[in-house]
Amino acid sequence: MKQSNSIPSWCVGVTIQLILAAVLHQGFATVAPPTTAQTTAAPHKDPGRPEKGNYLVKNINGTCLLASMGLQLNITFNSVSQNKTVQDVMNLRPNMTKSSGSCDTDSASLQLLTDADKINLTFFFTLNSTSRKYHLSEVSLSAALPDMKEPVVAHNRSLDYLRGTYGYSYMCREEQTLNVAEDLSINTFQVQVQPFGLTGDQFGAAEECQLDEDDMLIPIIVGAALAGLVLIVLLAYLIGRKRSHAGYQTI
Ligand SMILES: *[C@@H]1O[C@H](CO)[C@@H](O)[C@H](O)[C@H]1NC(C)=O
Ligand SMILES: *[C@@H]1O[C@H](CO)[C@@H](O)[C@H](O)[C@H]1NC(C)=O
Ligand SMILES: *[C@@H]1O[C@H](CO)[C@@H](O)[C@H](O)[C@H]1NC(C)=O
Ligand SMILES: *[C@@H]1O[C@H](CO)[C@@H](O)[C@H](O)[C@H]1NC(C)=O
Ligand SMILES: *[C@@H]1O[C@H](CO)[C@@H](O)[C@H](O)[C@H]1NC(C)=O
Ligand SMILES: *[C@@H]1O[C@H](CO)[C@@H](O)[C@H](O)[C@H]1NC(C)=O
Ligand SMILES: *[C@@H]1O[C@H](CO)[C@@H](O)[C@H](O)[C@H]1NC(C)=O
Repeated sequence: MKQSNSIPSWCVGVTIQLILAAVLHQGFATVAPPTTAQTTAAPHKDPGRPEKGNYLVKNINGTCLLASMGLQLNITFNSVSQNKTVQDVMNLRPNMTKSSGSCDTDSASLQLLTDADKINLTFFFTLNSTSRKYHLSEVSLSAALPDMKEPVVAHNRSLDYLRGTYGYSYMCREEQTLNVAEDLSINTFQVQVQPFGLTGDQFGAAEECQLDEDDMLIPIIVGAALAGLVLIVLLAYLIGRKRSHAGYQTI
């Protein structure tokens, strides 16, 4: 009687394993990032997370490019003070940064001047008018900071980052690295950008990047596993009940 009414032991075993798997997965997901962050930050001074800046470009039709993002430059240069090649990670401070640029039918640029114009970082976006897709195609940087023996100039015209659709904004909450040249990479934080097809001063609907979608996938998988688990337990319970009822009737 009691035995047939309780949940079968194999079911309990599977339940515990699934719960353990879910908990461990969650645990790794939350524990892993800090350890990697520590190892990469250790050799250099860590400037922390950059502040998010809001930048815009206007033309005769109004605002034609909008960008909201935190930017971090990872530059390799010849240091005067250390008399050797060093790698420095620096944050762009939005309240010290002036934005300008231009917009055309199939190209747009965002120029950021910062640190009393010692850094000129320019982003170029291209629109494919056939497919109505845009992307970040080109980045140029010139930096002449006091500690640089000679100015750093980096330019790459064959990039393919921040891909979006005309009329929509590109969005990525996760940190992303844009590799521009051997001596320059750019870390972006919480990017939302739209270089084409703005309506008024507003971003169009956001297209989320793959990194963010992958991030959202984990809770969905865990949730689905738990839902499946509840169903198995419920079924096992119902089957158990039915058996015990059947037992009553035959007696
Ligand atoms: C301004 O808007 C008009 C009408 O939509 C368009 O024909 C023209 O190309 C736009 N000009 C620029 C510089 O975007
Ligand atoms: C800076 O770039 C180097 C490689 O060029 C990389 O090893 C390092 O982790 C980067 N630092 C950050 C904070 O992105
Ligand atoms: C910088 O280093 C070079 C060799 O690496 C050395 O010849 C030169 O004297 C150093 N300069 C200073 C100012 O220390
Ligand atoms: C810029 O922002 C920083 C931090 O938010 C603040 O400490 C600083 O005073 C600001 N500088 C100016 C010129 O507004
Ligand atoms: C900044 O760089 C862009 C692209 O190389 C260039 O067109 C622009 O003239 C530069 N601006 C200044 C103020 O140097
Ligand atoms: C624009 O997109 C179309 C369709 O995806 C493609 O065939 C074409 O090569 C692209 N043009 C350029 C200049 O990239
Ligand atoms: C430009 O960027 C692409 C993608 O990151 C890279 O493969 C290529 O080597 C870069 N070109 C130069 C000249 O650095």
